[in-house]
Parts: sequence; structure tokens; C-alpha cells
Amino acid sequence: MGYKIAIDGPAGAGKSTVAKSLAEKLKFVYIDSGAMYRAFTLKIIKKKINVEDKNALINVLMTTNISIADDRIYLDNVDVTDEIRARDVDKLVPIISSIPEIREIMVNIQKNIAKHKDIIMDGRDIGTVVFPDANLKIFLTASIEERAKRRTKEIRDKGVCANYEDILLDMKKRDEMDSNRPVSPLQIANDAIVIDTTNKTVEEIVNEIIYLMGDH
Ligand code: C5P
Repeated sequence: MGYKIAIDGPAGAGKSTVAKSLAEKLKFVYIDSGAMYRAFTLKIIKKKINVEDKNALINVLMTTNISIADDRIYLDNVDVTDEIRARDVDKLVPIISSIPEIREIMVNIQKNIAKHKDIIMDGRDIGTVVFPDANLKIFLTASIEERAKRRTKEIRDKGVCANYEDILLDMKKRDEMDSNRPVSPLQIANDAIVIDTTNKTVEEIVNEIIYLMGDH
């Protein structure tokens, strides 16, 4: 079966940093489900497909190969790890990921990747939809200001200009769309443990999660 850890939460809550560090410590596979939605969105932008054309979107997704290996994400065998973080992808991804048929296909891919593996997957619906039977469900959160601050730093660290106010506004919009969509909205699973990361280090959070795993 494999041990499944689901980590959900809003943008910038620290999910991927925590999940990566945890996976390294535990020797688990780490899958960033948001990166999968982003890679698909990038393809839609590149192919200039109208996002209103649901059938076209589904057809493209059915013939798209998204894979993750060693923390790199590949779209049709091309490494798009950096490209998927662009602002135009940020803006379009919540629209595309609100389409139920697209989510259904993605969830199936995610379940298949995880089969028989010890895995940590992060996203918005991992504890609620992808792995409702996960061994451990964590919901990470932090204040919106802290999350926008982190995202601004992350972009600036890459040598790219970033405006805090713009990022704060974009993040608010994306959170709102992810939380209010009718299908698989961002919500705390009944049996999830909520951790506020605002004043905690990555190491503290990772240790807390390992403690919560008990004698797995
Ligand atoms: O995690 P990240 O912020 O990179 O995710 C990008 C977007 O992908 C989210 O804002 C959300 O719209 C979508 N997403 C989703 N379900 C997931 C993961 C991400 O709808 N499990």
C-alpha cells in the first residue's frame, strides 16, 4: 500500500518546502500536485487554446505527458520546472483547475503515481479527494501577509523583480478562487491537523510532522 502523507493549504503556506525536506528525511517520494496543474496550464498558454473550450482542454490533457523526477517536472519530456512559476501561469492555473473534468483526469494520474509507494503529496485537495484514506493529513497555513512576503523573497532570490503589493493581490485572488470553486475547493479535511507556519522554521514543522507520524 505505502504510507501516504497529504499536505494541503493555500499558496505560500510553505507546503513544498516542508514536503521536500520531509521527503528527504523519510526517503519518501515527493509529488507537487500544483506543479502538474501548472505544467498543463503552460501547455494551454503555449498552444493558445481558448480556456472556455472545455473539449479542447480535455483533448490536450489526454495526450499530454506530465512526469516528475528528482524534483523536476517534465511536460511532454521537456523540463519546465522554472517556466511553470511564471506570472501568466499563476493567473490562469486557478481557472483551468476549477474544471471538474480536468481535475478528474489529474486526480487519476496522481493516484497512479502514488500506487504502492511511500509518498508525500501536496496541493489543495490531497486529503479530501486524492487520498481520503491518507495515513496522515496536514493542513499548512500562514497569514496572507507572511505568505506574500515569502513568495516575494522566493522570486527576488532568483534575481527576478517582484513587487510585494502585486503578489499580495494576486495571491488573494488565487486563494479566493481556489477556496470558492464548486469542485474540490481548498478546505481542511475533517481529520487533518492544522499547522500555522507563520512563526515556525521548516525544521520545526518537519519535526512536528515526524512526531505526528508516530511509529509508522
Ligand atoms: O501549489 P501551487 O500554488 O503551485 O498550485 C497552483 C494552483 O494549482 C493552485 O492555485 C490551484 O489553482 C491549483 N491546484 C489545485 N489542486 C491541487 C494543486 C494545485 O487546484 N491539488
